Amino acid sequence: MSIHPLPPAKPATGVGRLPVARLFVFTGAVTTVAFLAGAAVIMKMIADARAMSPRPEVAEQIGLLNVALWVLFLVLLAAGVGLGFIVHLTVLKPIAQLTEQVRTVASGDFDHRLGVERPAELAELSSHVDSMRRRIVSAWRTASDQADELRRSNGELEQFAYVASHDLQEPLRKVSSFSQMLEQRYGDQLDDRAKQYIHYAVDGAKRMQLLINDLLDFSRVGRVTSGREAVTTRPSLDSALENLSAAIEDAEATVTADELPTVLGNRAQLTQLFQNLIENAIKFRSESPPRVHIGAIRSGDLWEFSCSDNGIGVEPQYADRIFLIFQRLHPRDVYPGTGIGLALCRKIVEFHGGQLWLDASGEDQGTTFRWTLPAAGD
Ligand SMILES: Nc1ncnc2c1ncn2[C@@H]1O[C@H](COP(=O)(O)OP(=O)(O)O)[C@@H](O)[C@H]1O
Ligand SMILES: [Mg+2]
Repeated sequence: MSIHPLPPAKPATGVGRLPVARLFVFTGAVTTVAFLAGAAVIMKMIADARAMSPRPEVAEQIGLLNVALWVLFLVLLAAGVGLGFIVHLTVLKPIAQLTEQVRTVASGDFDHRLGVERPAELAELSSHVDSMRRRIVSAWRTASDQADELRRSNGELEQFAYVASHDLQEPLRKVSSFSQMLEQRYGDQLDDRAKQYIHYAVDGAKRMQLLINDLLDFSRVGRVTSGREAVTTRPSLDSALENLSAAIEDAEATVTADELPTVLGNRAQLTQLFQNLIENAIKFRSESPPRVHIGAIRSGDLWEFSCSDNGIGVEPQYADRIFLIFQRLHPRDVYPGTGIGLALCRKIVEFHGGQLWLDASGEDQGTTFRWTLPAAGD
């Protein structure tokens, strides 16, 4: 398994930035020079003492001293070489091995085993680090399997929603058209109660048709629609206003907008987004004629849009609930609707990599929704 390489290691500072081998070589060299200088001085002193033609017992002692010094010199030399060898074998080499292994893991090969056999301290350290590596890799694997599974089941659910809503339309049309035919053809033989029942049946079928259409729209986002490209948002707003022209006229609503930017997106979906938000702004109006404003401000790599109205407003405690599918705050006979609009808007915005939320901070009456969309490279 390989994951992205990790960022490069942080460089050491101060004396610590020297590799440990260099510190050993430096100390060894200073010690050797001092040792050789000392030996040379002592040899010189012995030679000088001999040149003074000392008495035979003194000369013998000097000879013994000379031999003793040579033995000491050789022992120290052997100890120095041995120490260097041991340091190389038990410290420097294992550290280099471990560094190489860690570097391989850091460069992305997370299955690479970490481990050195000596010295005991490094062996223990490497075994702890290796168990950490194994645990992280196994957790990562589980998470990535779950993400795959989630993606698959999400895809299946969307497919299911699409097929179900698509296939439900046909029998529904039958129910609705045959109920209507019943009324047309046998209307004169039916009493008022029977007509009322037929009316309920037709009304139910129509409502179900609306729900199915909205569900279809919802399941289409990110599944059927093509990719994203740089699109100017003004035409999307214009199409939305065009689709809503009758409602706007009926309600004597005024819709204004800032200068709208170019974003990375899908034109048809952005039209749906504007249309649902403005439709809500007009539908949930207060006594005064609706005024709706679409704003846009730049925020880093994103554009932050807003849709504010002067309508009945939303209590802050419902700020999350209204985005759930089929969740509505009002009975259907007061404000008609299916409760899918905001869920669809959120799905569209998230499909674009942005976020949509209710701005509950405003003190003025009315409602403000805000959402972000990725800016197209300017
Ligand atoms: N502009 C708005 N002003 C007041 N309430 C709103 C507004 N937009 C949405 N809401 C509330 O959020 C709920 C969910 O909206 P939505 O998903 O579009 O469903 P629908 O429009 O079918 O009721 C609405 O029923 C309403 O209570
Ligand atoms: Mg709506």
